[in-house]
Amino acid sequence: MTELEKVLNAMSGESDEIVHNTQTRKDFEELLMMYTGAIREVRTKLEVLNDEFQIRSQRNPIRYINSRIKKPSSILEKMYRRNYPVNLESLKENMHDIAGIRVICAYGSDIYAIAEMLMKQDDVMVLMVKDYIQNPKPNGYRSLHLVIEIPVFFSDKKQFMKVEVQIRTMAMDFWASLEHQLRYKTDGKPSEDISNELRDCAEIIHETDARMESIYKKMQTM
Ligand code: GTP
Ligand code: MG
Repeated sequence: MTELEKVLNAMSGESDEIVHNTQTRKDFEELLMMYTGAIREVRTKLEVLNDEFQIRSQRNPIRYINSRIKKPSSILEKMYRRNYPVNLESLKENMHDIAGIRVICAYGSDIYAIAEMLMKQDDVMVLMVKDYIQNPKPNGYRSLHLVIEIPVFFSDKKQFMKVEVQIRTMAMDFWASLEHQLRYKTDGKPSEDISNELRDCAEIIHETDARMESIYKKMQTM
């Protein structure tokens, strides 16, 4: 077992072995602190954009923002699943979702407006864009995913940190949270009936999102 495996196991409560202040544990905790800093930076960028929108157009494209740091047990599970070496270098290099931010927007067009404004900032490096709205997953999942890298300043260094940003509408988020719970409950294998029903709902939700946005746009011209 690598040192990081021991630390992640101990922090997941999977092992009785107490990992006292080993260097790896300290380094891992420092890394988590740096990811927390990265989340704060991106959250601020998003809040600033939302404030500006509010002043200019009297409305908030962002309804709310959630963020999380990936749990040690999930980090370990994903590193095993992807066959990544379990050490700190590999974690920094390969794992792009240790820091995660979810941005919930009112309308579909807000998703792209926010993503564009974030991606064109000159300290934001875009590492990956996955558009599950243009290309929904076979189960019906829709969301825009970005992996970005931003500099975070500490006392003696500037660190480039990766953050995964998921942007979706309230309706897409409603769907994703039910689908996630269901997958969890059924160990990833919901019945075909329920899967079909969910896929149906995803389509209806998508259509409703579009109709709501078109009503909103008409309302602007009244
Ligand atoms: P993970 O190994 O799960 O992190 O996926 P990935 O690295 O292949 O990236 P992907 O963009 O496919 O998914 C990243 C994240 O998006 C997941 O961890 C979920 O939070 C969310 N997500 C992706 N697909 C689905 C889905 O079908 N249903 C739900 N509810 N969430 C999803
Ligand atoms: Mg993930």
